[in-house]
Amino acid sequence: MRFPLKIAESRSTVLVSGKGAWKWLNNFTGRHQEKSGQIFILVDENTRHHCLPVFLKKNPRLKHPVILTVAPGEKTKSPETVLSLWNSLSDNEAERNSILINLGGGVVCDTGGFVASTFKRGIQCINVPTTLMAMADAAVGGKTGINLGNIKNSIGSFYLPKATLICPLFLKTLDKPEILSGLAEIFKVTLVADRFFWDKIISTGWTELLSSSFDEKKWEKIIIRAAELKCAVVEKDFSDNGYRGILNFGHTFGHAFEALSLRRDRTPLPHGKAVASGILCECFLSMKYCGLREPDFEMITGFFTHVFGYYPISDGDFEEMLMLMGQDKKNRNGAINLTLIKKTGMAMVHQPCSRKMIREALDFYLTIPEKHPHAGRKSS
Ligand SMILES: NC(=O)c1ccc[n+]([C@@H]2O[C@H](COP(=O)([O-])OP(=O)(O)OC[C@H]3O[C@@H](n4cnc5c(N)ncnc54)[C@H](O)[C@@H]3O)[C@@H](O)[C@H]2O)c1
Repeated sequence: MRFPLKIAESRSTVLVSGKGAWKWLNNFTGRHQEKSGQIFILVDENTRHHCLPVFLKKNPRLKHPVILTVAPGEKTKSPETVLSLWNSLSDNEAERNSILINLGGGVVCDTGGFVASTFKRGIQCINVPTTLMAMADAAVGGKTGINLGNIKNSIGSFYLPKATLICPLFLKTLDKPEILSGLAEIFKVTLVADRFFWDKIISTGWTELLSSSFDEKKWEKIIIRAAELKCAVVEKDFSDNGYRGILNFGHTFGHAFEALSLRRDRTPLPHGKAVASGILCECFLSMKYCGLREPDFEMITGFFTHVFGYYPISDGDFEEMLMLMGQDKKNRNGAINLTLIKKTGMAMVHQPCSRKMIREALDFYLTIPEKHPHAGRKSS
């Protein structure tokens, strides 16, 4: 399957999946190298081990790429990594017609995308996502970014890759918590943009799908639908001036959970699982202030706690979380803005949110273990 995301005539990208992805890449890299263009592949230590051998085998026309390796994990999304990658490209005589292939999860795609968008004012990049999170979300839509201290994605660019290749085969070696993390973003995009897909999602037997043997075709269908939904949103508002904000549902609270966990846990919460906790809080506010019907709220919160569990916090964490939310990129004139849902499949951006409302949502969050006793911490 193949479909383009077109922002303007001069700015478009393609999403290619299945066998077509390898064919597309072989032809593209083969032609590029015939014109003596250099190819770089960015991996982290895990994708170098698990994914690079498969990638090279599937791309026999790709000759002598330069492999750039970074450490795995969120801390890699830093100005230091970017500087070291700029230096590596420069030391290896990368030119404007060089291509950077990002083979990894959201960390590799976000960092590599940013490096590609800035090196010599922009070289082409291709995303080959290897996590569910990156296939369905991070590698699609042209946002790149790194963190500044503990402020997520504070530095970045809007930069479309030449293509994003969806190859669910890579999911075979991914740990279950990382699969769950990607699922949270898939559920989110359906909640804000596609009521019918949401109905399908909740009737899918996730426990069976996650525990049974790997079904590449099933995963491909789910990923492609989520990526299609994201592309449709991005096409309407590439530079994130309003409508694209619907994709931030769950993220204001989610980023606060993520930053809190990054500071205090030895195994930090994966991004998507932090977003799942954020969705619980923002669903509560959607019900209280945005018209989400109570039965829908109950159904969504029951479903999310069943699949993702509960990340424990106490009221002693509220001040830090408020401070973290105060730094959110979506804030305007000092006010915190949220994306909330009016009903399943329909989101509202720029919903002002007071400190009192945030406290109410966090108070609600603390009651979850009581209401859903099965929801112990399931982050690993
Ligand atoms: N740009 C965007 O629009 C966007 C959207 C959503 C998320 N993001 C970003 O994506 C990042 C999270 O991405 P992620 O969840 O993919 O995390 P990640 O890139 O850190 O990958 C998770 C872990 O899985 C390992 N891994 C990757 N592929 C593997 C494979 N096939 N087999 C075995 N191990 C593998 C990685 O080395 C890492 O340890 C966050 O920084 C988030 O901000 C960006």
